[in-house]
Amino acid sequence: MKCILLHGGQGTRLRPITHTGSKQLIKIAGKPVSRWMLEKIRDLGIEEFIIVLGENDPRSVIDYYGGDGSALGVRIKYLYQGGKARGIADAIYRCRGGMVGENEFIVALGDNVLIDPIPARMVEAGNSVLLARVRDPSRFGVAVISEDRIVKMVEKPKEFISDLALVGIYKFSSEIFQEISKLRPSARGGELEITEAIQGLIQDGFDVNYEVVGNWWKDTGTP
Ligand code: G1P
Repeated sequence: MKCILLHGGQGTRLRPITHTGSKQLIKIAGKPVSRWMLEKIRDLGIEEFIIVLGENDPRSVIDYYGGDGSALGVRIKYLYQGGKARGIADAIYRCRGGMVGENEFIVALGDNVLIDPIPARMVEAGNSVLLARVRDPSRFGVAVISEDRIVKMVEKPKEFISDLALVGIYKFSSEIFQEISKLRPSARGGELEITEAIQGLIQDGFDVNYEVVGNWWKDTGTP
C-alpha cells in the first residue's frame, strides 16, 4: 500500500516563518513535522510514499528527504501540484492512475503531528478516517456518529454538529476519485474539500470506518 503525503500549501497562517520555506519542514523537537508523520506511517509497514509538493520551496523538500528516501528506509516519488492551491482533494486526484492505480492507499497531511501510533486498523480494507475530540470543531472537518457509524461529515461547520474532528490521516479505496470528480470548489478560496468527497461516499452508500485518537494531536497550521 502507498501513502500520499501532502507537502504543499502556502502556510499563510504561519507567516512570516513560511515566507522562506515549506511549512511542513518546520522542525518540532528536532524533526520536520512531515518527517514525524512519514515515520508514523512507515511504522504501519508502509514503504512507498508519494510526496505532493506545492509552490513553497519544493526543491528543499526533495533535498531534505534525500531524493528517493532510501536513507529513511522508504521509497519516495514526488508529484508537483503547481499553480494556485486547489486543496487536499485536488492533490489526491492528481495521484490517480499511474501513481496509485486501483489500489487502496493512505493519505496523510504533512502538517499534522500526533503522539500515539496510528491504529493498525486504519490499513484494513475499505475507507477509513482518524478522528479526535476537539474543543473548537468549527476549525476542522467533523464527523457525526450514530449507532457507531459515520452518518455525516461537514467541513468547518458554522453550527455545532459534532466535536469529533478529522485528523489528517485517511485511508481510501479507488471510488474516492469518482467522488472527487463530482466536487465543486468550496467557499474557502475555491479549494476542493476532501471532507465533501467523503460525505459523497457516505451518501452513495459506502461505509466509512473510523478510529478515535485519544492522546495529543495538533494540526500545525497556526503557531
Ligand atoms: C484540513 C481539512 C480538515 C481537517 C484538518 C486537519 O483543514 O480540511 O477537514 O480537520 O485539515 O488538520 P485545514 O488545515 O486545511 O484548514
